[in-house]
Amino acid sequence: MPAAYGFAIEPAWRLEVVRYALTPPGWPAELKLRIAVLADLHVGEPFMGLSRIGRIVDTANDLRADLAVVLGDYHASHRFITRVVLPEEASMALRRLRAPMGQYAILGNHDYWSGAQLWRRAMRDAGLRLLENRAVRLGEGETAFWLGGVASMLAIRLGGGRFHGLHNLPGMLHQVKGDAPLILLAHEPDIFPTVPARVALTLCGHTHGGQVRLAGYSPVVPSKFGNRYAYGHVVEDGRHMIVTGGLGVSMMPVRLGVPPEVVLVELG
Ligand SMILES: [Fe+2]
Repeated sequence: MPAAYGFAIEPAWRLEVVRYALTPPGWPAELKLRIAVLADLHVGEPFMGLSRIGRIVDTANDLRADLAVVLGDYHASHRFITRVVLPEEASMALRRLRAPMGQYAILGNHDYWSGAQLWRRAMRDAGLRLLENRAVRLGEGETAFWLGGVASMLAIRLGGGRFHGLHNLPGMLHQVKGDAPLILLAHEPDIFPTVPARVALTLCGHTHGGQVRLAGYSPVVPSKFGNRYAYGHVVEDGRHMIVTGGLGVSMMPVRLGVPPEVVLVELG
């Protein structure tokens, strides 16, 4: 029964809303911002069909956040797909994701591996603005802040377990002018040791919390730092990162102890 649960019920049916309320250093206490965060959809039936994506979008919209962000890995690479969901279909399903300050996205490693151009177009058509090594200034006056994103650190596979990243954190930071606070969207949390204190909060996905997580420990984490960045709110040297366990599955269609989640971040 636990195996059947892990393989079928948790990946396909459960959906949690996980809330984080924080005011990290560099974020003004009086600046209230609510961000809905989606990650790692890995679209494709039976685990992430169009109706499931629709339910996730409804859940995110119901949070009435100021801003919606999607942190990459739309493509599913695992072998258990019973029907492929095409980028244009995923785009149609994501088109209803709406927030007053806009919808922003980055791509994940699986998207670069499966045709980044298709996923770039899908995001654009869905009304999501891509932040690939780019930063945008949002809000006005006292309430202004920057939202920056970087490309995947695993974007190009070199073979033998080696990768070439397309992330350009210095290039993104160079676009940030003035002293308004900055939020970073990065698919892989392994970027965190190189993120400067200028970034008030880093939002990441990619790990799926290990997909199996028991008593706060994930046996398998796609990170060179193991459990350090597997899941949740990480604080190091006064710098803050939130790693969402995401929504879909990759490699193996199993989730146990880390149910699919939509994250709501409340700043200020
Ligand atoms: Fe990923």
